[in-house]
Amino acid sequence: MTMRTRSLGTTGPQVSALGLGCMGMSGMYGEADRAESIATIHAALEAGVTLLDTGDFYGMGHNELLISEALRTAPAALRENALLSVKFGAQRGPDGEWYGFDGSPAAVKTSAAYSLQRLGVDHIDVYRPARLDPDVPIEETVGAIAELVEKGYVRHIGLSEVGADTIRRAAATAPIADLQIEYALISRGPEQEILPTLRELGIAVTAYGVLSRGLISGHVTAGKEYAATDFRAHSPRFQGDNLQHNLTLVESLRKIAEQKGVSVAQIAIAWVLSRGEDIVPLVGARTRERLGEALGAVDVTLDAADLAAIEAAVPADAAAGERYAPAQMAMLDSER
Ligand SMILES: NC(=O)c1ccc[n+]([C@@H]2O[C@H](COP(=O)([O-])OP(=O)(O)OC[C@H]3O[C@@H](n4cnc5c(N)ncnc54)[C@H](OP(=O)(O)O)[C@@H]3O)[C@@H](O)[C@H]2O)c1
Repeated sequence: MTMRTRSLGTTGPQVSALGLGCMGMSGMYGEADRAESIATIHAALEAGVTLLDTGDFYGMGHNELLISEALRTAPAALRENALLSVKFGAQRGPDGEWYGFDGSPAAVKTSAAYSLQRLGVDHIDVYRPARLDPDVPIEETVGAIAELVEKGYVRHIGLSEVGADTIRRAAATAPIADLQIEYALISRGPEQEILPTLRELGIAVTAYGVLSRGLISGHVTAGKEYAATDFRAHSPRFQGDNLQHNLTLVESLRKIAEQKGVSVAQIAIAWVLSRGEDIVPLVGARTRERLGEALGAVDVTLDAADLAAIEAAVPADAAAGERYAPAQMAMLDSER
């Protein structure tokens, strides 16, 4: 496996072609093992992964503290290569309740100050609001991050789950490196309007949910019970008939994977990689085993015949169920 790099837009840094998303290490998909999480981050850095993605609300600081420990205990040369992408703005209480998103300039700066402390760094490489705050013009949120860039606390500005109009307004305010958005074989919404807008403006994509929360990884089976705090317990795509239907898509994909001698997850990640040099998939591995499998996708080449077979097996809009439960869908500017 040779880790290639991609550019995070025309103004952002060079990053590894795959980034590591650390959210699952802080409870979003049930319990995670702390020592294995840290070993996974170290293994990713050793394999040439330079982009680590987190959010201050992932475990309410837990994820940032975990990353901080992983960086502290990594060899200095690897630590220096790591680029941190941090989301802020989600308001949550101690019981996990949601209170919406705060993109006000005061929240931008306060959140950044806490994140710098928790991460143990003097700057954040890419800083982004997790969602659009409907009560704060995006110009004010981005303007406040731009002030942090001027002062050296942040290097680049990113966005997350916003639509074309918001992207244009943000880009007119300050240089934007990337948009983080769900993009996968079974989540093709960004292709309509968002991707063309990003390409026009020279903004990259960090794609999350490339395995649709593990659904199209080839490791999910029907009948598995998820704890109430596990995202998948509430995801429409993991419920009842929807799950049955979606797993038939996975079996179609498995046939193609077997013919190529790779795994289903590798085909799904390689497909996202094949969508353009401006797209950097974030893989949500939380064990070294899953990470190793995901990294193998970098060396999977899909030719025109492979891509046609994949499209036929999993046509756009083939998934049953929305990618989020209704209350969370309503928070997505990207779906308006
Ligand atoms: N901006 C946003 O709104 C937003 C939203 C969600 C996530 N994100 C970011 O994107 C990152 C990735 O998102 P995601 O967790 O939804 O991605 P994902 O890659 O679609 O799903 C990750 C899940 O897939 C399973 N999986 C099975 N095989 C795997 C393999 N070979 N490699 C990796 N995972 C495998 C893992 O579950 P098991 O460990 O149980 O096998 C893991 O929990 C997150 O960590 C977070 O940093 C951003």
